[in-house]
Amino acid sequence: MRISSRRHLIQMEGASREEIVRLLDTAETFFEVSRRAVKKVPSLRGKTIINMFFEASTRTRTSFELAGKRLSADIVNFSGKTSSTSKGETLRDTIKTMEAMHPDVIVIRHGAAGAPQHATKHTGAAVINAGDGMHEHPTQALLDAFTIRQRKAKIEGLRVAICGDIAHSRVARSNVHLLTTMGASVAVAGPRTLLPAEIERLGVEVHDRIEPAIEGADVVMMLRIQRERLGGSLVPSDREYARKFGLNPERLARANSDALVLHPGPINRGVEIDPELADGVSSGILAQVEAGVAVRMAALWLLATASDGGPISAKDAVTA
Ligand code: CP
Repeated sequence: MRISSRRHLIQMEGASREEIVRLLDTAETFFEVSRRAVKKVPSLRGKTIINMFFEASTRTRTSFELAGKRLSADIVNFSGKTSSTSKGETLRDTIKTMEAMHPDVIVIRHGAAGAPQHATKHTGAAVINAGDGMHEHPTQALLDAFTIRQRKAKIEGLRVAICGDIAHSRVARSNVHLLTTMGASVAVAGPRTLLPAEIERLGVEVHDRIEPAIEGADVVMMLRIQRERLGGSLVPSDREYARKFGLNPERLARANSDALVLHPGPINRGVEIDPELADGVSSGILAQVEAGVAVRMAALWLLATASDGGPISAKDAVTA
């Protein structure tokens, strides 16, 4: 992530603690805008944002669109399915076509890891990765961090358990990078077939059962099985998975009594998480969604204004 020197938001790997804190602090300033009666500030008036989604999305797409609109930017939403990519146009040509219309920011979700990075070579706009294949989903990790900071007042020193399909999860990868950089201790857990080789090199504990990961955790983050990315039958049936790896009240009792339960969504109720927990007092799932708008406002604002010689303070941006 190179927020401070402009350019792009592609991954959390390599992001510094200062860059992460700056984005989270900026998001905190923007957070209350969405709770106002008039949910709009003029901070990005005259800027153009193109949201390019080549994969399905509910939360990320909606929150990027709302974030841009609440900052008064002009927004164009582009869907892979209804665009000329369905007629064979390449990503390179698609990006160059968008570039000819002078956008300030391009937001991309794509099934291929590296697609947003590739896009940076063909546009002068800032590029934000909204999830690329099994690589990274940086704004998800940032909104997770925002929610943790909101509920726990810190990230450093916390124990965070990330449980489920780690191998196919861009959310897990971005979170591991962000949380370890911020000084949290991270344990990952899931079926052996869904744990990437050598993940312990990223400085995390690794378990093939979720119970030891959850033990003493301050935050329990559950992930769904990414069946759309599974080639074969690497996992048991939903019922078997829920029995062995699902978060239920008995398993959550191993965590700290005030543990925060997170899930990036979409949820498969009754599979990786008991509905009672998804909707319960420990759940921060809808807080994550709310945080998503603020974090994406911060990312759009920091990147879109950097080329103007750097942003004014976020506080000025929300009071203008
Ligand atoms: N968490 C997340 O990326 O959700 P969507 O796929 O709905 O955007």
